[in-house]
Amino acid sequence: MLERIQKSIDFIRTITKSTPKICIILGSGLSSLKDYISIDEIIRYSEIPYFPISTVKGHKGELVFGNISGTEVVLMNGRFHYYEGYSMQEITFPIRVVKQLGAEYLFLSNAAGGMNSAYSIGDIMFIEDHINLMGDNPLIGHNIDELGPRFVDMLEPYDRELIKDAINIAQEKSIKYHKGVYVAVPGPCFETPAEYRYLAKMGADAVGMSTVPENIVAIHSGMKCFATSIITDLGFEGHFHPISHKEVLQVANKSANKINEIIIEMIKKM
Ligand code: HPA
Repeated sequence: MLERIQKSIDFIRTITKSTPKICIILGSGLSSLKDYISIDEIIRYSEIPYFPISTVKGHKGELVFGNISGTEVVLMNGRFHYYEGYSMQEITFPIRVVKQLGAEYLFLSNAAGGMNSAYSIGDIMFIEDHINLMGDNPLIGHNIDELGPRFVDMLEPYDRELIKDAINIAQEKSIKYHKGVYVAVPGPCFETPAEYRYLAKMGADAVGMSTVPENIVAIHSGMKCFATSIITDLGFEGHFHPISHKEVLQVANKSANKINEIIIEMIKKM
């Protein structure tokens, strides 16, 4: 793994000298944040040794280097999902790479189904905790001590100070928000009504198919993490109706501005 990370970095370093402070990974339909970056270089995933390639519609596949208000960032435009058939280690390989490039923070967004009856379609939820129901973990296997510890404390998977900052900004801008628990499932099926009920009962407010593997590796490697969900559909009594990936993308696209505004403002203040 160390050798593969180094080979990816060696390639990236032939193109950019950037040392991004923040890595941003955008979810389905949420890629418009790219428009707010003053871009220096774009590298396609397919060019980078050992990078997987995103196969999902709505996910591009490029690393965008640049800055937002003077803070160097790298945007992973397009992410990898477990349901695409990649291993947890493959999905999270880019996090290992950006960490070695200098990233101290990981900002994530995703589209999720809302199971809390106070939630509406298009709302945003700051993730304050998660439940990993993916049935796998990117840290399984030989631990590479240079990358992080064998046993990882997960008491604060999402940085409380960053959540506070996001809440302050949402309040200033009159953006409705929730704070909640995200449960990650492997997908690619959306949930059955019984599954939504079960997930809500176990304490989750929103469900999705990403974010948790990236978060685990970020915490393992000592990065601070901030994550937001867009509620693209509802999974509770009285609101069950058929959903499609197209619909998820449409809602995410429409609501992306709220997340963009908050992330940009957070970065400005860092
Ligand atoms: N379930 C799982 N993943 C999702 C959902 C959902 O309802 N909506 C968007 N991603």
